[in-house]
Amino acid sequence: MRRTHTCGELNKKWIGKKIVLCGWVLNMRDHGNLTFIDLRDYSGITQLVFNSKADNKKLHSFAKQLKSEYVVSIQGIVSERPVGTANPRLFTGEIEVLVERLEILNKSLVPPFEINDDVRVSEELRLSYRYLDLRRPLMQKNLRFRHKVCQLVRTFLDKQGFIEVETPALTKSTPEGARDFLVPARLNPGKFYALPQSPQLFKQILMVAGIEKYFQIVRCFRDEDLRRDRQPEHTQIDIEASFIEPEDILALIEKMLTALFEKSLDVKIKTPFRRISYQESMDRFGTDKPDMRFKMELIDVTDIVKESEFKIFRKTIEAGGIVKGINARGCANFSVKQLDGMREFALANEAQGLAWLKVAGDKVVSPIAKFFSSPIIKRLLKTMGGKQGDLLLFVADQPSIVSSCLGRLRLHLASRLKLNLKRDKYDFSWIVDFPLLEWNEEESRYQARHHPFTAPREKDIPLLFKEPARVKARAYDLVLNGVEIGGGSIRIHKENLQKKVFEALGIDQKKAEERFGFLLRALRYGAPPHGGIALGLDRLIMLMLSLDSIRDVIAFPKTQKAVCLMTGAPDQIEQGQLRELGLTLRR
Ligand code: AMO
Ligand code: AMP
Repeated sequence: MRRTHTCGELNKKWIGKKIVLCGWVLNMRDHGNLTFIDLRDYSGITQLVFNSKADNKKLHSFAKQLKSEYVVSIQGIVSERPVGTANPRLFTGEIEVLVERLEILNKSLVPPFEINDDVRVSEELRLSYRYLDLRRPLMQKNLRFRHKVCQLVRTFLDKQGFIEVETPALTKSTPEGARDFLVPARLNPGKFYALPQSPQLFKQILMVAGIEKYFQIVRCFRDEDLRRDRQPEHTQIDIEASFIEPEDILALIEKMLTALFEKSLDVKIKTPFRRISYQESMDRFGTDKPDMRFKMELIDVTDIVKESEFKIFRKTIEAGGIVKGINARGCANFSVKQLDGMREFALANEAQGLAWLKVAGDKVVSPIAKFFSSPIIKRLLKTMGGKQGDLLLFVADQPSIVSSCLGRLRLHLASRLKLNLKRDKYDFSWIVDFPLLEWNEEESRYQARHHPFTAPREKDIPLLFKEPARVKARAYDLVLNGVEIGGGSIRIHKENLQKKVFEALGIDQKKAEERFGFLLRALRYGAPPHGGIALGLDRLIMLMLSLDSIRDVIAFPKTQKAVCLMTGAPDQIEQGQLRELGLTLRR
């Protein structure tokens, strides 16, 4: 029996027609003389009917053998459902198929969970039986949506003159700030390939090679701590072009995202996206990926409270620290327990404590209220917009701790107060004017804020060694609803400058030659000015579909411990393989 239709496409138009369907048994309802089966394939569900009339008896009892997830093909006649039994929620809800022939194509064990969208089982179980999990309509929808977005990306970039070029997965280290995954090279004992953290160096070399407009939907590998929006392998929409300025790239991406949202979600997004400098973002939101769907900004009150009698604030300020606060609107009714919870949260985020003031009229209520004179209270309320019923929360510490702690507290509160749940709103911002370098406390040296190939702002080059922290990069990040979904920059295209930046990063000439000699050599042969960007495809799809985890948009993701529960990777290997690779394991 050859399939003539899919389970999602039959309706009243087909009544009286003989058809063949294939699919999985979703469920079976036995009504004695009548047996109903919902048959499912990727496209939907069709109701099948077996009756026990004389010429159907054998078939009817055969059908009783069917169980959940058996794979069958059936031949039958499309007929209208009896009055009052239509299911308006299904496209096929007005018809059913009276089955004449049934073939069991394969049996199935009892699945460990039901294949429907409201499964209430652990993610571990879903990942262990991913092939069953992916049969669920929701997961099918996610993967199909992802496919559609990839198609749209390819079509869009192709029209703009970009060509997709593949770059190697077995390569030399391409640093993006994570650890490398390494692959021992059997033919070169003692040597290793690194899996690329991104195709960064290859795409730059493609510019030297005159490709001019490159893109690739490409897998990147990073050995780092995992989170809901981080996997050891993720996919980027990677783009690079020659003879361009940041403006060109920002405009290209805005145009591409406009097309993606319109064609896949029928959503019109507003362009141009808001732009905000790294410094402003840190000051107002305590993070470089601000969620601006809600306000609750960080407000500096150092100048106001330095006059107060509250010793903790004064001492912190005298020691070079600052005091900032956020206004949790309408939260003055928080209980002691809730306030304790907030304080615990602040302590877990490196603060020494969390001070609070509840606003009641033009006064404040708090154990520490007595330390603040009424002119100070007045100024505080004015600066923070404190009104009746608001709760003001403060952290005093070194600037970086104050920012990061309050930035996180802001998100924590927003999710408790459901301020960030306007799921239908897509809020984009470009973060610009990043510092080129950042100080690494542990290693006592500067490191690249993005990667070491990012171009500094021309006028800042003389500061590279004098005041490295003040050098700005020609870099930009794209943030959607508080998630970094992309980042890029104009690159260094001159060997001299690249060498200088390596030096500023503490990479000496010998090491630079060993690690990046191939890039430096390429730059000597007429490398054009170039730049680009990479968007995190998994994160983008997750946000487009209003999901919480990128695992739901990846067919075979790994757990937080970087394990694939279905295959059992990573796994031990045989002694013979180790020997062949010239490796021994330390016990
Ligand atoms: P970057 O490191 O910012 O830039 O990566 C680009 C985007 O990829 C996504 N991303 C991830 N998604 C899931 N899991 C991960 N572990 C992960 N790591 C990154 C993020 C991020 O914004 N070569 C540069 C780009 C360039 O300069 O052109 C790069 O890789 O959404
Ligand atoms: P204490 O005198 O230690 O009981 O602190 C009084 C109040 O100030 C408590 O609510 C503390 O949580 C808060 N507090 C202590 N240190 C800080 C700090 N660095 N920043 C903000 N509030 C603090």
